[in-house]
Amino acid sequence: MVMSHVPVMAREVMDILPLRPGATAVDGTLGLAGHGKMMCERIAPGGLFVGLDWDDEMLAEAQSRLGDVEGVEVRLFRTDYRSLRSKLDLACSEAGRVPEADAVLLDLGLNNAQIEDGDRGISFRQEGDLDMRMDRSKGEPASAVLNRISPIELEKALWNFGDERWAKRIAQVVVDRRKNHPLRTTEDLVDCVLAAVPAAKRDKRIHPATRTFQAIRILVNGELDELDEALADAGRCLAPGGVMVILSYHSGEDRAAKTAIKELVKGGGFEAIYKKPLRPQADEIAVNGKARSAIMRAVRRI
Ligand SMILES: C[S@@+](CC[C@H](N)C(=O)[O-])C[C@H]1O[C@@H](n2cnc3c(N)ncnc32)[C@H](O)[C@@H]1O
Repeated sequence: MVMSHVPVMAREVMDILPLRPGATAVDGTLGLAGHGKMMCERIAPGGLFVGLDWDDEMLAEAQSRLGDVEGVEVRLFRTDYRSLRSKLDLACSEAGRVPEADAVLLDLGLNNAQIEDGDRGISFRQEGDLDMRMDRSKGEPASAVLNRISPIELEKALWNFGDERWAKRIAQVVVDRRKNHPLRTTEDLVDCVLAAVPAAKRDKRIHPATRTFQAIRILVNGELDELDEALADAGRCLAPGGVMVILSYHSGEDRAAKTAIKELVKGGGFEAIYKKPLRPQADEIAVNGKARSAIMRAVRRI
């Protein structure tokens, strides 16, 4: 399978990050290295690029895509960006540099290649085992979580992580069905949603299972767990004059980004770069509809 993902708001991200030859740049959500490669090109010669991703497959692909980068020291780690500080320290100490970043990018969520890989069970459009884990070396697949948690916990997750107004009914259908037929595949979950949400009340703009799949993926991967703290910690790795950009794609992520930046500014030594977050331009959305929901915030260390 050819993996592809178009980097979102790349123009805006590259414009605001202080990427110059010799700089230290961190991409905490490397994915297929779309943004990462652009960052490398701008910090050559003499730059240090640190890339993190918790997904083995993404990291392997990114490594090969960054293989032809010249004049930059590239260090990649399979890890959660919650350990950005320790990986930056390690990479900088090995490179004999001050452990500070001039640029940090966090492009949250998941990329197109992960969504379209039927084996991962992330998309309601692809038949497959209901797994959804980004790091499959640990944790429970979505099917195990859905066959175990209480209806209240499930309803809360659907509401909090998916803004799903039919949360209660969907949770009830899942719990009723799993008594005789434990959920196993993406289709099983889609069927539960379709049975719970009356046809006449469905949002015509998106598939009825969109919010449910998003919510369960966030739950399974703990994507919002202490996210605001993790983002603030990443900001504290910046060198004076350094900038951190956060791209988020739904309200839960953006709330965490906003809180993190507020916290950094309140603590002193940081300034928020935009009063209102940036959104993608119409010309970008026209060629990449998946950019539509992006929200970009940025903070600078003074
Ligand atoms: C939107 S994609 C990034 C795409 C990338 N900017 C590009 O241009 O190719 C997000 C990536 O972050 C990774 N990711 C999500 N949450 C993570 C976390 N907590 N720690 C590390 N990686 C994470 C996902 O595996 C995915 O590859």
